[in-house]
Amino acid sequence: MEILLETKNLSIEYKSINNKANSDILAVNNVSLKILRGEIYALAGESGCGKSTLAKGITKLIKPKDGDILYQGESIYNQNNLSKKLYPTNVQMVFQNPYSSLNPKMKIEEILKEPLDINTKYTKKEKDEIIKEIIADVGLQDSVLKLYPHEFSGGQRQRIAIARALVLNPKLLIADEPVSALDASIQAQIINLLKELRLKKDLTILFISHDMNVIKYLADRVGIMYFGSLVEENYTSTLFKYPKEDYTKKLLNAVPILKK
Ligand SMILES: Nc1ncnc2c1ncn2[C@@H]1O[C@H](COP(=O)(O)OP(=O)(O)O)[C@@H](O)[C@H]1O
Ligand SMILES: [Mg+2]
Repeated sequence: MEILLETKNLSIEYKSINNKANSDILAVNNVSLKILRGEIYALAGESGCGKSTLAKGITKLIKPKDGDILYQGESIYNQNNLSKKLYPTNVQMVFQNPYSSLNPKMKIEEILKEPLDINTKYTKKEKDEIIKEIIADVGLQDSVLKLYPHEFSGGQRQRIAIARALVLNPKLLIADEPVSALDASIQAQIINLLKELRLKKDLTILFISHDMNVIKYLADRVGIMYFGSLVEENYTSTLFKYPKEDYTKKLLNAVPILKK
């Protein structure tokens, strides 16, 4: 299968404020992973292990200390690369907290239109059509377009955040703990929506979560991070059946078994 995105020996560091090298934090340490076109790749590991930092590296929000990120085989830092201009629109992100990720002063219509205004030359009519289609794709009615974020529940807001991420028709969606702030019943709806959208929109998804139950249900493959390193990677069913690393076993043992 085609590799859509690859990190090669990627390291990302946060410099300490007091400029002492020994208190710098190596949040991502020499991570090499490949995300295949069409798959849902889950990145797991406990809080603070570097999952969000890796995602920020991939979305170019942070510059790596070392290593490279390849999109369709080409470095995203290669200045001569023609497809580099397309990269930002091809990779979009959904964040954990749907309460802080939507501008409270903008109507949903404006929130969805903004990425189109910035990145495309579509006419107003074309933009309106794209927005109507995407809002239906995430399971909401047209009438929501005239409302403001505060008028929605957490689950609905996350649907709107997903719509905003998809409005530019990206190839790769990075969802960083997209359901961690939601109630269990709502979590399942959003997870199913992502599953549905993956097929409908031909998406590849990097799904970040510390919840192994959700990963087991959703992901094709899983990578386990521990203190900045990728310590194990496998097909989801294999990883759950035959974890190799002690740390992976510990993570799996920490998963509460759901009883009916
Ligand atoms: N902006 C930042 N400045 C300094 N350190 C940070 C910053 N963001 C994250 N870190 C540190 O980097 C490490 C990885 O954090 P993060 O990528 O947020 O982990 P995760 O998403 O897995 O919880 C942690 O030790 C965290 O404290
Ligand atoms: Mg995080």
